[in-house]
Amino acid sequence: MRWAHGLLWLYAASAAAQSVEGLYSLVKRRMPDHLDQFRFSINSSLTHLDGYDQFRVQSAPNGTLLVEGCSISALSSGLHRYLTDVAHVDIYWFIGSRLHLAPSKLPALKAPLKGASMVPWRYHFNTVTFSYTTAFWNWEEWEVQLDWMALRGVNLPLAWVGQEKILVEVFREIGLTDAEISTFLSGPAFQAWNRFGNIQGAWHSELPESWIDQQFDLQKNILRRMVELGMTPVLPSFTGFVPMNTTRVFPNASIIRGSQWGGFPLRYTNDSFLQPFDSHFAQLQQSFIGKQQAAYGNISHIYTLDQYNENTPSSGDLDYLRNISKGTLKSLKDADPDAVWMMQGWLFYALSSFWTNDRVEAYLGGVENDEDMIILDLYSESIPEWRRTKSYFGKPWIWCQLHDFGGNMGLYGQILNVTQNATQARIESPSMVGYGLSPEGQEGNEIMYDLLLDQAWSSRPIDTPQYFHRWVTSRYAGSGSVPQGLYEGWELMRSTVYNNTNLTNSAVIQPTVEAQPGINGVVGSTGTHPRALTYEPADLVKAWQSMYQAGHSAPELWKNTAYQHDMVDVTRQVLDNAFIPLYLDLVTTYNESNASPDILTQKGQRMLQLLADLDAVLLTSENFRLSKWIRSARSWGRGNQKEAAFLEYNARNQITLWGPNGEITDYASKGWAGLVSTYYMPRWHIFIDYLKSTPTASYNSTAFFEKLWGFEQQWQEQTWTSPEPTGDKVDLQKVLARVRLASHSPIPLLAAARPLAHSDDHGFSQCRVLFEVFRIKIRSAIPATDAVLPGLLIECDPSIKSLILKYDEERHDYIVEDLDDENYLVIKESQLQNLKARLDHDLDEKIMQLDESESE
Ligand SMILES: *[C@@H]1O[C@H](CO)[C@@H](O)[C@H](O)[C@H]1NC(C)=O
Ligand SMILES: *[C@@H]1O[C@H](CO)[C@@H](O)[C@H](O)[C@H]1NC(C)=O
Ligand SMILES: *[C@@H]1O[C@H](CO)[C@@H](O)[C@H](O)[C@H]1NC(C)=O
Ligand SMILES: *[C@@H]1O[C@H](CO)[C@@H](O)[C@H](O)[C@H]1NC(C)=O
Ligand SMILES: *[C@@H]1O[C@H](CO)[C@@H](O)[C@H](O)[C@H]1NC(C)=O
Ligand SMILES: *[C@@H]1O[C@H](CO)[C@@H](O)[C@H](O)[C@H]1NC(C)=O
Ligand SMILES: *[C@@H]1O[C@H](CO)[C@@H](O)[C@H](O)[C@H]1NC(C)=O
Ligand SMILES: *[C@@H]1O[C@H](CO)[C@@H](O)[C@H](O)[C@H]1NC(C)=O
Ligand SMILES: *[C@@H]1O[C@H](CO)[C@@H](O)[C@H](O)[C@H]1NC(C)=O
Ligand SMILES: *[C@@H]1O[C@H](CO)[C@@H](O)[C@H](O)[C@H]1NC(C)=O
Ligand SMILES: *[C@@H]1O[C@H](CO)[C@@H](O)[C@H](O)[C@H]1NC(C)=O
Ligand SMILES: *[C@@H]1O[C@H](CO)[C@@H](O)[C@H](O)[C@H]1NC(C)=O
Repeated sequence: MRWAHGLLWLYAASAAAQSVEGLYSLVKRRMPDHLDQFRFSINSSLTHLDGYDQFRVQSAPNGTLLVEGCSISALSSGLHRYLTDVAHVDIYWFIGSRLHLAPSKLPALKAPLKGASMVPWRYHFNTVTFSYTTAFWNWEEWEVQLDWMALRGVNLPLAWVGQEKILVEVFREIGLTDAEISTFLSGPAFQAWNRFGNIQGAWHSELPESWIDQQFDLQKNILRRMVELGMTPVLPSFTGFVPMNTTRVFPNASIIRGSQWGGFPLRYTNDSFLQPFDSHFAQLQQSFIGKQQAAYGNISHIYTLDQYNENTPSSGDLDYLRNISKGTLKSLKDADPDAVWMMQGWLFYALSSFWTNDRVEAYLGGVENDEDMIILDLYSESIPEWRRTKSYFGKPWIWCQLHDFGGNMGLYGQILNVTQNATQARIESPSMVGYGLSPEGQEGNEIMYDLLLDQAWSSRPIDTPQYFHRWVTSRYAGSGSVPQGLYEGWELMRSTVYNNTNLTNSAVIQPTVEAQPGINGVVGSTGTHPRALTYEPADLVKAWQSMYQAGHSAPELWKNTAYQHDMVDVTRQVLDNAFIPLYLDLVTTYNESNASPDILTQKGQRMLQLLADLDAVLLTSENFRLSKWIRSARSWGRGNQKEAAFLEYNARNQITLWGPNGEITDYASKGWAGLVSTYYMPRWHIFIDYLKSTPTASYNSTAFFEKLWGFEQQWQEQTWTSPEPTGDKVDLQKVLARVRLASHSPIPLLAAARPLAHSDDHGFSQCRVLFEVFRIKIRSAIPATDAVLPGLLIECDPSIKSLILKYDEERHDYIVEDLDDENYLVIKESQLQNLKARLDHDLDEKIMQLDESESE
């Protein structure tokens, strides 16, 4: 048997006695016109293996779709399977719901759709997602998220909003003053790290009480909805981290200072930790869980509790570690006899030199009954700690995909690991009880997250070509059709961008654009927060071209929210990648010789132009705007200007300096309009100016960083005042047509890409016309005098390209520019028909000759 009775009981209890009303409400929220076409019913005999979720969807004779399953989560998973695979609609991060675009009369099923989960639990959220992604979300945003989770079968979500309300009451109860409590609580954008004891206190200003109250109200809504949608929320608990002055009210208690985190000044870290063997720990746990149950009801027995997440224990003694976990579990059980302790397994990786196997075994061993604990193997796709710890010495654990750090946005994925290795782990480890998502921030790359949650319902590793094809259909279709170019673009990305297997890079790639400038060390870093690309940038350009052409063959795509989002995202990445050679070129020029300021100006200008173009593209979509992040933050001030200013400061600080003094600067950088134009661009500008004014031999990084620091700091204090863009600025098609990539990369193209007038003209003689381009020839350092030459970019088989080069030698009348690559050429538009005819003729002749030679 895969897992023992304790957890199974909880699982069954969570499924029992549930109403399907939550599902009808979901359909009513997202596709009210289709409400009458669905019937949901719990059928407890539809279970699988040891009682895991199973669903069946079929058409009744009168056309109604009957969705059956053994739990609410099984039903919502069945509904989702039907919506994506048959009705071709879904709900997405950023884009929102497209469910209402399903055909008005839903397609009937000839045979029932069936699904069976291979694991009991499907988990969602990293603790820090609550700061990097959801920090400022309002209820409407949460509603979309919760529907997203329900449809994807998540039945075990972390519910980590608003616990400060309960915590403050606990602290007040033991006699701490509000001033003392305030020195402990961190700002709205940094609560995750406060909750697990990495940091304490807020810089710049104190956490407003209104924030605490509003978040508590939000949590009540979230929990109610989670339960309604068949999820078992993982609730907060008392961790042991307390305000420094707890020693005043508990003078004899065993309170120690924790370790220093992230280079923060002592005042903001080294949190006070009330040791779990002290009786006061149990007292505070009792108080916390009691108040929480009173506030939310008896809705879950699973509690999240992390004590050593990037905190070093004060002793490595095995008895000490065992003692700590034993005391911690006892406090939970005293407060709730059915309590199960959930912990992130990240610590064992982050501090792997401390956490030797015997220490891990001792710490976990303090929890004697394995089923009293669940461990999240937080980074299974790259650093599977479950392996070295022998499946956490028998504790139930969940295989999680982390995928990104700080909500960085590079396109990236490990399709093989998420399918093959995830399956292998389930087969190999008897205590693996679920699949989960643990992104530090929810970002793009949504297909990677869908892939793992769908893997939970597949006994074999998912076949990714088929999966991508289906995913693309439901992503864009609704009731329309999907042009081939979109399938081609995604297939190309599947085998390149999303197929990283070299784990020298093990997570989302952070764009170089977002790095602090410098003359070395900016490009090429690897590891968990890498900058080196894991694919050929030219492959992504090709994918972009296919997707862009799709918009030409099906112009209605430009009004499709999913297409708009993805075109911005892929363009963002293409431009980010194109920035790298421009930057390297500048630095090489600077380092090799004492280049003239004019040359540096010219090279710098190209970088800045690219950044301006990047910002313009991002600006077209609200999902890629800094203003959205700031506006959401400020809205929690509810009109109080002082609080709104503090919220804006928090929002700005998290994504840039991350800390009062840039302690982990740029860790959570973003590719957002507004951030590019007001933060990254000025930084590169300062860099270029510094190079221009400083001879190579005198480059002084200290002096340069001082200049940068002045700028970075004053940016934190600013107020966002720009109005939201309108008109042509938000017309992606127009912006893309204008944007040019003035780079000298091998495939230069976004260059004024404009769709062709005759779409049927694309292919000829093993060539393909990609775009009409205006290739910018840089002749002088002054951009205004650049010559603009119109032409068509074509991609050909190398043999055809050499043939065209030969024709051109005669009178130089075909080619505008021979690009530095075996496949690409820019030709004169006026010569296209002529060239086609000539190639057709010559190639026909060649084939005839071949035929003749064969028949001999
Ligand atoms: C529940 O499912 C079982 C197995 O398919 C089926 O035999 C039974 O009729 C179903 N019950 C109801 C009430 O539909
Ligand atoms: C259609 O049939 C299903 C299953 O028999 C039933 O539950 C539903 O009420 C029927 N709907 C209508 C509109 O008659
Ligand atoms: C902490 O307690 C000390 C006395 O033990 C007191 O002087 C100090 O003001 C307290 N700190 C705060 C923030 O109230
Ligand atoms: C703390 O310990 C001392 C010495 O054992 C004792 O006198 C005192 O009463 C204790 N204080 C509290 C609050 O328990
Ligand atoms: C803070 O943490 C550091 C690193 O663990 C440690 O060396 C130092 O003693 C701690 N400071 C205090 C006041 O506990
Ligand atoms: C809470 O629920 C559990 C089972 O889910 C039950 O055993 C326990 O008695 C309930 N507690 C309260 C206070 O209702
Ligand atoms: C844990 O350590 C404390 C303090 O050293 C001690 O009083 C207690 O008995 C220990 N508890 C266990 C379960 O070992
Ligand atoms: C999966 O990740 C591991 C590292 O944990 C690596 O060794 C392995 O090659 C990866 N497998 C695939 C198929 O990418
Ligand atoms: C991942 O899967 C590949 C291919 O099956 C295998 O070679 C590798 O050992 C696996 N790695 C881990 C860490 O599971
Ligand atoms: C993904 O990468 C692996 C290892 O390099 C390779 O074997 C496999 O063919 C690639 N898959 C695709 C679809 O390109
Ligand atoms: C993996 O990537 C690193 C860094 O880019 C490179 O040095 C190494 O050769 C690569 N390994 C393989 C097997 O391609
Ligand atoms: C570099 O700049 C710093 C700060 O301006 C200055 O203190 C230092 O002397 C400079 N170093 C050299 C070698 O000029």
